[in-house]
Amino acid sequence: MSLVVAIVGATGVVGREMLHTLEQRDFPLTSLRLLASPRSVGTSLTFKGEALQVQVATPEAFKGVDVALFSAGASTSRELAPAAAAAGAVVIDNSSAWRMDDDVPLVVPEVNLESAKKPPKGIIANPNCSTIQLVVALAPIHRAAKLRHIVVTTFQASSGKGKAAVEELHNHLQAIANKQPFEPKVFPAHLMMNVVSDWKAGNDGYSEEELKIINETRKILGDNSIAVSPTTMRVPVVTGHSESVHVQCHRPISADEVKELLRNSPGIVVDDRDYAPGAHPQPIDSAGTDPVFVGRIRNDLGVPGAINMWVVADNLRKGAALNAVQIAEELFVRR
Ligand SMILES: NC(=O)c1ccc[n+]([C@@H]2O[C@H](COP(=O)([O-])OP(=O)(O)OC[C@H]3O[C@@H](n4cnc5c(N)ncnc54)[C@H](OP(=O)(O)O)[C@@H]3O)[C@@H](O)[C@H]2O)c1
Repeated sequence: MSLVVAIVGATGVVGREMLHTLEQRDFPLTSLRLLASPRSVGTSLTFKGEALQVQVATPEAFKGVDVALFSAGASTSRELAPAAAAAGAVVIDNSSAWRMDDDVPLVVPEVNLESAKKPPKGIIANPNCSTIQLVVALAPIHRAAKLRHIVVTTFQASSGKGKAAVEELHNHLQAIANKQPFEPKVFPAHLMMNVVSDWKAGNDGYSEEELKIINETRKILGDNSIAVSPTTMRVPVVTGHSESVHVQCHRPISADEVKELLRNSPGIVVDDRDYAPGAHPQPIDSAGTDPVFVGRIRNDLGVPGAINMWVVADNLRKGAALNAVQIAEELFVRR
């Protein structure tokens, strides 16, 4: 199998991680087309030792492409994903543009791979980064005991907001070191030494990100009855989202049962060290790695039969690039 692959948004933090992931996993491609906005004309990126020129993403750029990996924001996906699909490519899209479309499967391979097999529009959506790691950890529990209510609080890294956000965090750190004033432009407030909710407003006092977690979790797990109570926050971490998750099911579950379930589930590393300061999955260790790390799995002391856990993963890898490449592998390499 040898495929023509295009990356739309190749110069972004997710796009660059896609390039790296395809190279690391030795994805069987014959040629790679790197696409971005006109701002990136003249940029070259290296793949397997070869310098590739970035081209402008236009509808014509998809001729002959088998797999188009999109990570260039929702408006670019709305505009160009149908053109790529019409040209015969299978589109795997990282943006929010198509996720809640009934004719677009929203896929995490460990959870609902079957739905990816015949995408009616030729488009498959990659979920939001915080939802991916959450459902990888929740799906085995849902299968065993049917989820009733989850409460999730996120501690999300700056790279989740793209390359400009990472740059701003570094510049802010530098300004603090130089005792200079700093005016944030990407974040709505100082992020360094702070915790900030920085997503657009959704409805009913919730952010758009919180509503995505509710809707996407239910769509991927195929169960609209699950009550999902999210709070999303940005922390001054570069890469690696963390989540505190409280889980109640339709029957009592215990920490021991959940540890056993998750130990035997794909894509998960269970950290079952006893509580001690610092003895838990940390975003800094997750950066650059594939698994979803789950630790601090413990019985809830106030709600008998419920558990609490701490879920960490690299938002650029499992939360974006890796999940998309895994979908492509399942469709084209392992079919
Ligand atoms: N970061 C994460 O953790 C994460 C996780 C899951 C999903 N996502 C989603 O992935 C997408 C990309 O996010 P990112 O974090 O990688 O952002 P980013 O670092 O800001 O990169 C954005 C990319 O999109 C390209 N782009 C922007 N406008 C374009 C246009 N009109 N035509 C073609 N290309 C265009 C940019 O090209 P130029 O360099 O030429 O401007 C750049 O390559 C977003 O939809 C985001 O929601 C991100």
